[in-house]
Amino acid sequence: MAHLSQLKHSSGDWRKIKSDAVAVGIYDDLKLTRQFQGVNRELGRGLSNALAANLIKGKAGEVKTVVGKKGAIAFVFGMGKRGKLNAEALRKAGGGVSKACNANKIDSVSFLMPVDAKENYHSQAAAEGLVLGSYQFNEFKTTDDDPFDMIGATIIGGNKKAVVKGTIIANGVCLARNVENRPGNVATPTHLAENAKEIGKSGGMKVTVFDREKFTKMGMGALAGVASGTEVPPKFIIMEYMGGPKKQKPKVLVGKGLTFDSGGISIKPSAKMDEMKYDMCGSGVVLGVMKAVAELKPKMNIIGIIPSTENMSGDKAYRPGDVLTAYNGKTIEVLNTDAEGRLILADALSYASKYYDPEYMIDFATLTGAVVVALGHVATGIMGTDVSLINAIKSSSKTTAEKVWEFPLWDEYLEQVKSKIADVKNVGAPMQAGSIAGGAFLEAFVGEDIPWCHFDIAGTAWGDRDLSYHNKGSATGEVIRLVVDLMGV
Ligand code: BES
Ligand code: MN
Ligand code: ZN
Repeated sequence: MAHLSQLKHSSGDWRKIKSDAVAVGIYDDLKLTRQFQGVNRELGRGLSNALAANLIKGKAGEVKTVVGKKGAIAFVFGMGKRGKLNAEALRKAGGGVSKACNANKIDSVSFLMPVDAKENYHSQAAAEGLVLGSYQFNEFKTTDDDPFDMIGATIIGGNKKAVVKGTIIANGVCLARNVENRPGNVATPTHLAENAKEIGKSGGMKVTVFDREKFTKMGMGALAGVASGTEVPPKFIIMEYMGGPKKQKPKVLVGKGLTFDSGGISIKPSAKMDEMKYDMCGSGVVLGVMKAVAELKPKMNIIGIIPSTENMSGDKAYRPGDVLTAYNGKTIEVLNTDAEGRLILADALSYASKYYDPEYMIDFATLTGAVVVALGHVATGIMGTDVSLINAIKSSSKTTAEKVWEFPLWDEYLEQVKSKIADVKNVGAPMQAGSIAGGAFLEAFVGEDIPWCHFDIAGTAWGDRDLSYHNKGSATGEVIRLVVDLMGV
């Protein structure tokens, strides 16, 4: 596994910790703190020389490498405006420091928590950044000339428990990234089920997997319809974590596990079709959160559900015009086989609505290209039925710096997914409000009075952002931090 999976913590003198480099922060006023001067002294005034040469600006996200006397190495990370230190600046700093270690082949680093980073969440974010920034996906490289993975990092100062928590959450994100980055011929529905079982075993969860025959018999006609074009065995995966009182309502997480989306008979254009291996990133969110839950062991009940299949074409595939019956008995006219994510989620949401009495349900899906048109790769589109749930999500979004933006689910949009011959159709009005149409369709499968929110992560699940704790062009594991915060794990 190519990422740091453990961090050390110390509250002692950083000079006593054996590391190959030290990382220290500076604000953009460039005033020298005692901590900074201490590192400067050890480096034979290397830092003040770099400052004098104007190499350091102190902007949040900036990480500069400074070589001092006898080859001693320091990383200087920017913290932005003094008095306005925020957790995201420290997450970026951690990420940048780990990236600099890997780039410069430095085995280990001591990360000095700024003395004014007093909140526990500051320590958590720095830990998340260090782990996430160390992540590299190289499991298919057999001939990389020059592979390098850093070995260790120690956070000096701050709060130890928060460092452990940040490490656990980031490990959940890295697990999700690994599964998500794997191609469709490796990350199959069976692979998702195996990951779910492994996580379940380590966290005392009950994991149940229905195969094609079983879920078809049970009445999951929408998942069965999408899966009809593939011989790769589809799965319906259920993870039950019961850490709270038996009678306590569970929080339900549902993730789209479409392991490859060709579009089916309504086939996609070939450009970038390879990216549709990422169409299971919703299930990655569920696995990543459940991995963190397995280790944090919160006293609450959490259910994870993953409907999983490929979407292929061929003589067995479902067709445009077909009518499918979902698990809740509603009929769906399929007008485009490429709008398959909402179909498999329909069965999952109906199943969860029937079998649990959820406190709330949230689903994650790379559902629409339209969300990228609306929000780019900057924010996740959210929409749902419950104001207080959505407000809580917005608040966790602010805390964790994973941006969300709410779309309305007005009645007019619900009208647009009504079918002439069935209850609903799987597309909305042509060329209009595509992401909302997806949400409006899903709402038909959410049990009455269950607070629900849909996350369209098609723009945020894999990378286009220059963020030190992301890797451009690969899976991000976005919204796992948000969901862990939302649940109060
Ligand atoms: N998985 C895609 C959505 C997607 C597209 C995610 C591009 C990321 C990048 C989804 O299954 C899909 O194909 N949606 C269609 C819906 C349409 C046919 C109503 C889309 O967005 O074009
Ligand atoms: Mn599709
Ligand atoms: Zn899809």
